[in-house]
Amino acid sequence: MDLQANVLRQLKSRREGFSLEQPFYIDQDYFKLDMEQIWYRDWLFIGHDCEIPRAGNYFTAQVGDYPIVMVRGKDQVIRAFHNTCRHRGHRVCTSDRGASAKLVCPYHNWTYDLDGSLVFARQMGETFDKNEFGLKPVHCESVAGYIFICLANEPADFAPVRASIEPYMKPHRLSEAKVAHRSTIIEKGNWKLVWENNRECYHCAGNHPELCRTYPEAPTATGVQGAGDDPVIAEHWARCEAAGLPSTFKIDPSGQFRTARMPLIQDAESYTLSGKRAVRCPLSDDVSTSHIGTMLLFHYPSTWNHILVDHAISFRVTPLSAEETAVTTTWLVHKDAVEGVDYDLKELTHVWEMTNDQDRSIVEENAFGIRSPAYEPGPYSVEHEGGVMQFVDWYTTFMINRLQGDKARLSAVA
Ligand code: FES
Ligand SMILES: [Fe+2]
Repeated sequence: MDLQANVLRQLKSRREGFSLEQPFYIDQDYFKLDMEQIWYRDWLFIGHDCEIPRAGNYFTAQVGDYPIVMVRGKDQVIRAFHNTCRHRGHRVCTSDRGASAKLVCPYHNWTYDLDGSLVFARQMGETFDKNEFGLKPVHCESVAGYIFICLANEPADFAPVRASIEPYMKPHRLSEAKVAHRSTIIEKGNWKLVWENNRECYHCAGNHPELCRTYPEAPTATGVQGAGDDPVIAEHWARCEAAGLPSTFKIDPSGQFRTARMPLIQDAESYTLSGKRAVRCPLSDDVSTSHIGTMLLFHYPSTWNHILVDHAISFRVTPLSAEETAVTTTWLVHKDAVEGVDYDLKELTHVWEMTNDQDRSIVEENAFGIRSPAYEPGPYSVEHEGGVMQFVDWYTTFMINRLQGDKARLSAVA
């Protein structure tokens, strides 16, 4: 049986409310299918506008086999390109980030404008037409300080994502924030295990002593299970909405992205050991209300986020192989906040540095156990793991639709 048919059969006959079968977490071919059907076809969060504040600022990223470069043009528009030279394919930008008036390939110095057009290629002969060899564009959208890219030739409509998340994010003015810190960790586990771990707090009390000082362990905190029925959350939403901050739980019908502003424990305002703000100046000049909790945004498959009153934390998921995933965490503060004056970097980052490392260890042990031939899918807790079930349901439905769509297209051609 061919791989696609096998995957389709397994997903369709999956025992609902149970984790996936072993190959979804460890098999190279299944991983390749995830990359082709999801990562190379859908919108992915790739970084923040404020990482490239001036014309000529760029940063690079790797998505599976694709090296990409994001660059701000002279017209201030942020564009993304395939970071592969149109001469003989050398990477044009070889550093993680930088600033340059033009993008110059180090191999033979072919030179591209910030809009991707080729402007210089030495001694290529009279018939050579530079217009034919601009950098290949990648679909790119910037919304409320978040840059999304899509590698598909024909991307899914981005309008619903924009319409849904922009009102929640805009008050926080992240497009003009400042990166206080960035860290990338490698977790030796499949990208879906990283997500499954993220989508529940059933494990928090036993594993995250620092985070649990401020983040509620209650299942309603993930904003999936009966959040609106919880009087504390309902009151929090009403108060924040009255202050002009969209807050209620909102999920796309496909289940791919969700926004919700959730309260922290008691008087906590930030992810610090004391619960007090880590940054003296608020993140946004437009948000003066206190105790706004955390604005939670996830967008499968690439990002989850916490936006607080004094800082924001974004998480970017990058699958590296069937059993390796990179997680990049970025801490954003007000652009004028000064390290050592307005915030102490250690205090700002401590809770999530610890939490990330604890989650890494959990994911790695989870992956370890799943590798056993004795592993079989196990039941999720309906009370605590509704978020995980939602993620796995999204993955299952999304893959079934993609694989059936491919089959329909192939039979139409045949
Ligand atoms: S490969 Fe880029 S200039 Fe030759
Ligand atoms: Fe965790």
